[in-house]
Order: sequence, then structure tokens, then C-alpha cells
Amino acid sequence: VVSEVGALGKHLALVGFMGAGKTTAGREVARATHRPFLDTDEEFERRHGPIAAFFAERGEAEFRRLEELVVAEALATPEPAVLALGGGAVLSPVTRDRLAAAFVVHLDVGVDAAWERASGSGRPLARDEAEFRELFEARTPFYAGAGDAEARSAEDVLLAALGIALRAGGAEALDEAALGAPLAVVADERVRALHEPPFLRFASSVHEVPAGEAAMTLAVVERLWTELGLGRGGTILAFGGGSTTDVAGFVAATYLRGLPWVAVPTTLTGQVDAAIGGKTGVNTAEGKNLAGAFHSPRTVVIDPDLLSTLPERERRAGMAEVVKTGLLAGRPVWELPEEEMIRACAAYKAGVVLSDPYETEGRRAWLNLGHTFAHALEAGSGYRVPHGEAVALGLLAALRLSGQPTDAVEEVLRPEPVEADLDAAWAALRRDKKGEGVFVLLEEPGRPVVTTVPDTDARAALSALVRQ
Ligand SMILES: NC(=O)c1ccc[n+]([C@@H]2O[C@H](COP(=O)([O-])OP(=O)(O)OC[C@H]3O[C@@H](n4cnc5c(N)ncnc54)[C@H](O)[C@@H]3O)[C@@H](O)[C@H]2O)c1
Repeated sequence: VVSEVGALGKHLALVGFMGAGKTTAGREVARATHRPFLDTDEEFERRHGPIAAFFAERGEAEFRRLEELVVAEALATPEPAVLALGGGAVLSPVTRDRLAAAFVVHLDVGVDAAWERASGSGRPLARDEAEFRELFEARTPFYAGAGDAEARSAEDVLLAALGIALRAGGAEALDEAALGAPLAVVADERVRALHEPPFLRFASSVHEVPAGEAAMTLAVVERLWTELGLGRGGTILAFGGGSTTDVAGFVAATYLRGLPWVAVPTTLTGQVDAAIGGKTGVNTAEGKNLAGAFHSPRTVVIDPDLLSTLPERERRAGMAEVVKTGLLAGRPVWELPEEEMIRACAAYKAGVVLSDPYETEGRRAWLNLGHTFAHALEAGSGYRVPHGEAVALGLLAALRLSGQPTDAVEEVLRPEPVEADLDAAWAALRRDKKGEGVFVLLEEPGRPVVTTVPDTDARAALSALVRQ
């Protein structure tokens, strides 16, 4: 089911007017998703020489005919790629039909920005401003009609490619038409008491789950299987933090062998991490996340307004994931205003997920930076150390083992050594690693590596996190 969502398993095609930045954004998206990139204009020029000269000598009709072939060949390649289509490519009905098999994003920066960029570029259709503006108006319906989503930037494209919509007030704006009916809402009980978005009123049913981690049990799953009462046409909406989206997503993966679901994350951790990427599951008596499934939400609605009621401790836990993301991406994303910070982190995670949806390539494992030590500290303290603090300390250990500066973690997260049983924590870490001693480290910010660490070094790094 996961492959039916967004651009998972499909080509990601960018359409839009000249000057929208399809080539630049396409390259960036290809880099983030580790996919091949092809610009159909560049490919055309490789085969037939400069487009301006081709237009002048052989005319637009012949250009369109050959462009159709270039696009068809690009769409026929088996490996999911990122494609930037020439500005007029969607004028062809044949191309529009072929694009139905791809995930198409309409990149639109507005006519003013497009003219500023395209004028003086020597493009045959960008010489006269009035004509350019007229053409922009005429073409826009074609792009909008072909696009599965709209975007202004590479980050927006990455979000759209996993069905993620980020906007303050987004939860309030969700209407019945967008969500479909019947709709069963699975809501964290605390969140339900604090927020009243309209979907709680128009849903066919609302099912409360215990606040936070207590929701992640098979008993809750079983109760939801019994209570939901949905048919195959139903949709499940998860409203809460990572615990709620994990359990509701797992129910969505298993109920009637899989229903579509929508995530509306209400924690910073949920918005930058947990609700994205389709890993769902519950804890068992043996440990965390031991039963689960990959099942991507059809839509993720990230609404920063929902964070207004988040307790400080939960916000700090989210900031640990933000710092982790910034270290992986090689950008101080924690310095951005909140909404941009969430956008940057969510887009980074979307890129990694698109590059390795089922964690078969190793790249998705990067997201565990610092988490091996964090889990060890949580277990070694009998789960008294909060997850966020444990992750902050885990990042410190990972940076020290990487020989990288630790100031970002120290300044933003201010972790202090915690009380834990070092032997128990070490035993948990060894169990976690299954004796392989493999860790995610950083060659430098922005360059994660998966590598082995000698036991003595790993134990010393862990020991430095524990109050002596
Ligand atoms: N699936 C994934 O890829 C993934 C990634 C990261 C974490 N997770 C999982 O997510 C879980 C942690 O999720 P979390 O950190 O988002 O928190 P959570 O869902 O456990 O919630 C934490 C607390 O915050 C409260 N809360 C949530 N939203 C609130 C709001 N807007 N206002 C006030 N209170 C609010 C909850 O009631 C709860 O008490 C862990 O089990 C973790 O393993 C999953």
C-alpha cells in the first residue's frame, strides 16, 4: 500500500512555466532523494542542439514532436527518477496521458519572479514581457490540471511527494471533502481535550487512546479493530503525537488488510519526524516497536498552531530531533523561525524516506543518529530518563565518537549526564546492536556514515553520559 502514496515508487515530474526553477529544484530534490535527475530540455539539447536555434530553423511544432519523445523515454525508465519537464511539455495531450503514471508537481513562483529569472536567458519565448505574461496565464491551467500538487520550492516538492501539507491553521481548514467519508478519528485523549478541529465533529466516529506512549499496545490495537466499524471505503485519521500516529497507522495497516490513513501530528517530534515515512507499530512486552508495518499516510497535515499547548518537556524532545536533523543535513535548522524549521526538518526526512522507503539501502538508518545511545540510557535508567534528554545525550556521544564539534548540541539542548545503571545501559546497547557494533556517525555535518566502533570506545562514550 505504501507505494501508492505520493511519489513513492514512481517518477517525480516537475512541470511549470519557464523561470519557475524546475531544473534547480529538480537537482536539489534528486540529491535529497538519491534519485537520478533528468531535465528534458537539457536532454533535447544533447540530442538536437540548442533549443533557440532549433526553434528558429525547424519551428515549434517539430520541437514539440521531438520533445514528446524525450519525455516518453524518460518516463519509461524503470528506476524512479526526478524529471524536470520543459515549460511547454504538458501542452501535448499524449504527454499529459503518460504523466498519469508519475507523481506530478506544479512548480509555481508567480509570474513576476518567473519573468525576472527567464528574461535575458535567451529563451525563445522569454523576449517580450507582455507576451511572456500572456503565455503564463494561458499555460497555468495546463500545469494545474497535470499536477498532483503545487509547490514553490524544492522543500515544498519533497513534502508534496509524500503527501505532506504544512501550514498554520491547516487542521482547522481540513474539510469533509478533503478527507472523505466515512472517517474514523483516533485521538490522543489529552490532545482531544485541548483542541477541537472540525474533523472531530464531522467524523463518523472518534476513538480516544491513552495519552502518549501508553497508546502503543496491542490491547489498544485490538480495541480499535473492534470499535472502528469502517468498511473498505473508510479512512482513519490519527490526531496526536508519535505514539498516536504509530498505533493508528498500524491499525490502518492491518484493519481490513489496510485502509488509507491521514496523520495530523500534534507534537514537534510528530511534525518533524514520527508522522512522516510510514513506519507504524506498537511496543510488545519484549521491547519498543517490535511489531509494526510500513504503511505511509496518504496525507500528513502539519499545523504548527497545534504546538501552542505542547508542554516544555515535549518541545525539548522535539528539539532533539530537530538538532539531529540539522546535523544530518549540515544546516543549523534549529536557528530558523518555527514554521521554517519544521518545514526544513520534515523535508529532509521526506527526502531520506523517498530515497529508502523500506530501509533496505541503509540511508534510512541515518535517522538513528544518537538514538542507539539514547535507547541504552532509557533502558539503563528503567525508563526514568525522558526520551528527549536521552536523544540529546546520544547526539553528544555520536559527535564525540565522530571527532566533530559538540557545540550545537550543547548550546541548543544543554544535556547533562543522567543517573543510570551503566552495566544495564551497556547490555541494552549491545542487544540493540545485535553484537555488530555498527553506529551512525558523522564524517562532518551533512555527511552521515554507518560504521563500526570498537567496544571500548563505545562503552567510554556511553559512560561519559552517565553521572558518576
Ligand atoms: N514512526 C516513526 O518513524 C517514529 C519516529 C520518531 C518517534 N516515534 C515514536 O513516537 C513516540 C513519541 O511520540 P511523541 O514524542 O510525538 O509524543 P507522544 O505521542 O508520546 O506524546 C507525548 C505527550 O504529549 C502529549 N501531547 C501531544 N500533543 C500535544 C499537544 N499539542 N498539546 C499538549 N500535549 C500534547 C501527549 O498527550 C503525551 O502526553 C515514541 O513511541 C517514538 O518511538 C516514531
